[in-house]
Amino acid sequence: MKIAFLLSIHFSLLVFVHSYGGNGYDPLETVLSNQRSKRSKPHHVSNKVVTSENSYSPVYVGPQDGLKEMDKISSLPGQPAGTDFDQYSGYVTVDPNHGRALFYYLAESPINSSTNPLVLWLNGGPGCSSFGNGAMMELGPFRVNADNVTLSRNKYAWNNVANVLFLESPAGVGFSYSNTSSDYSTGDIQTAKDSYTFLVNWLERFPEYKTRDFYITGESYAGHYVPQLAQLILQNNKITNQTVINLKGIALGNAYVDDETENTGMFDYFWTHAIISDEIHEGIISNCNFSENGTVTETCAEYQSKATAARSNVYFYDIYAPLCSSSTNSTPSISEFDPCTENYIRSYLNTAAVQQSLHAKPVQWDSCNDIIGIFWKDMPFTVLPVIQDLMASGISVWIYSGDTDARVPVTTSRYSIDKLQTSVKTPWYPWMYEDEVGGYVVGYQNLTFVTIRGAGHFVPSYQPARALAFFASFLEGKLP
Ligand SMILES: *[C@@H]1O[C@H](CO)[C@@H](O)[C@H](O)[C@H]1NC(C)=O
Ligand SMILES: *[C@@H]1O[C@H](CO)[C@@H](O)[C@H](O)[C@H]1NC(C)=O
Ligand SMILES: *[C@@H]1O[C@H](CO)[C@@H](O)[C@H](O)[C@H]1NC(C)=O
Ligand SMILES: *[C@@H]1O[C@H](CO)[C@@H](O)[C@H](O)[C@H]1NC(C)=O
Ligand SMILES: *[C@@H]1O[C@H](CO)[C@@H](O)[C@H](O)[C@H]1NC(C)=O
Ligand SMILES: *[C@@H]1O[C@H](CO)[C@@H](O)[C@H](O)[C@H]1NC(C)=O
Ligand SMILES: *[C@@H]1O[C@H](CO)[C@@H](O)[C@H](O)[C@H]1NC(C)=O
Repeated sequence: MKIAFLLSIHFSLLVFVHSYGGNGYDPLETVLSNQRSKRSKPHHVSNKVVTSENSYSPVYVGPQDGLKEMDKISSLPGQPAGTDFDQYSGYVTVDPNHGRALFYYLAESPINSSTNPLVLWLNGGPGCSSFGNGAMMELGPFRVNADNVTLSRNKYAWNNVANVLFLESPAGVGFSYSNTSSDYSTGDIQTAKDSYTFLVNWLERFPEYKTRDFYITGESYAGHYVPQLAQLILQNNKITNQTVINLKGIALGNAYVDDETENTGMFDYFWTHAIISDEIHEGIISNCNFSENGTVTETCAEYQSKATAARSNVYFYDIYAPLCSSSTNSTPSISEFDPCTENYIRSYLNTAAVQQSLHAKPVQWDSCNDIIGIFWKDMPFTVLPVIQDLMASGISVWIYSGDTDARVPVTTSRYSIDKLQTSVKTPWYPWMYEDEVGGYVVGYQNLTFVTIRGAGHFVPSYQPARALAFFASFLEGKLP
């Protein structure tokens, strides 16, 4: 079938490496341009994106006895001495008939692990790895050094304050896989269902977490995954006597939640950050209708291409950052992000000994898998109605944004919040970290918005200390 064919092409073209943040590489654009062309016939997707009430059927639950012990990582190759927390990784089968299994990595807290909350982290793409990007480049306990073989400790890792569970989702991403290749044509609905099935099974494997406070966090296209999974959990918590997941809140970072604000916010950001001319910006304003049933005219498309060309090779995900080049002086440092980090991670994770220590299948690991985005089946135009439901449900809903990202910029987040029609409770103020402005915060009715100053798309990579301060506030449920 077509997918199998394309998969074989994909695997024979592995010389093209796909790094999530790589210069010019843009997995979100892959999926959006596909979906937008499908959308040329107007259609509307229901607000209940995941499932309707009462449609619950019990999920597959496999035997989990003894698997936790087998998943324990004794030590990662190159790990620094004195590692004082437990790590686990392995597979959870979510569909035994298809042979579909999702890979996870759990980094427990060094202190207070038994009382700290459990936090699920999801990267976006769609198609990008939560372990390779989220854990190894952003918020996990280790960073890969420039030698490609040793690790250094990230002292601002989020597992300082929570037990962090990184899930490679959906199947086909990172180390997650399916024995049925048609599963790699997936979408929002299947991704949420599989993540839910994963959680129910994982909690059987790690029963000590069953009643623990649980949070879901993620960035970019996870702006879809996180609210949809949260909605599915809350629905299933009500209508089943299976596992009740103790969901307390969600946090969405530089998140793609609404297609209209993604476009308007991005081009306004380009203009206000001196990336495009007045002429291109005005051309976009007067020719493009980005609303749900708006038509993209040829003139609009031309101005969009001009904007992309004008942007040139500015690093899309952090506009003031240096590029990875041979002249980059690579010194591993947590406070100063090394733009070549992804190369070290790719080399490290494609080492047989590393894959064995992680209990991963031997594979060619890639930070993003394009096939996933190309064959993406379903996504609603907006998930704002889902976010509104979650806001009214009583769980805590936070939106955060690194303010030097141009991919899903802070303007986009502000336009999205405007569409949520909530009112200000605590007006905009600067939040402080070590006597400097860490960013800005606004408390809305049932929603908190936080910026992280000087951070790009991958917030904890660029501003690790501010990101951890923000994350700790989120878990405490207090404005920073
Ligand atoms: C777009 O069109 C569909 C079908 O005609 C309609 O149901 C939907 O409400 C429209 N959306 C907006 C935002 O107007
Ligand atoms: C996928 O197939 C392999 C080889 O038959 C098997 O070992 C593995 O258990 C299967 N995966 C799942 C999740 O069933
Ligand atoms: C551990 O928990 C105790 C009791 O809640 C608290 O006082 C302490 O600050 C915590 N330590 C860390 C490192 O989280
Ligand atoms: C759920 O409730 C039904 C009916 O009361 C019962 O038959 C079933 O065993 C319960 N399932 C679980 C997992 O407790
Ligand atoms: C954009 O398109 C929508 C749907 O066709 C329409 O309702 C709206 O008025 C248009 N906006 C502008 C500014 O033309
Ligand atoms: C690390 O791996 C990259 C490929 O990902 C390679 O280009 C580079 O030369 C390697 N560095 C060292 C020190 O071996
Ligand atoms: C906030 O939540 C309450 C219920 O908890 C709900 O009645 C209200 O409509 C929500 N407001 C907004 C703006 O979400």
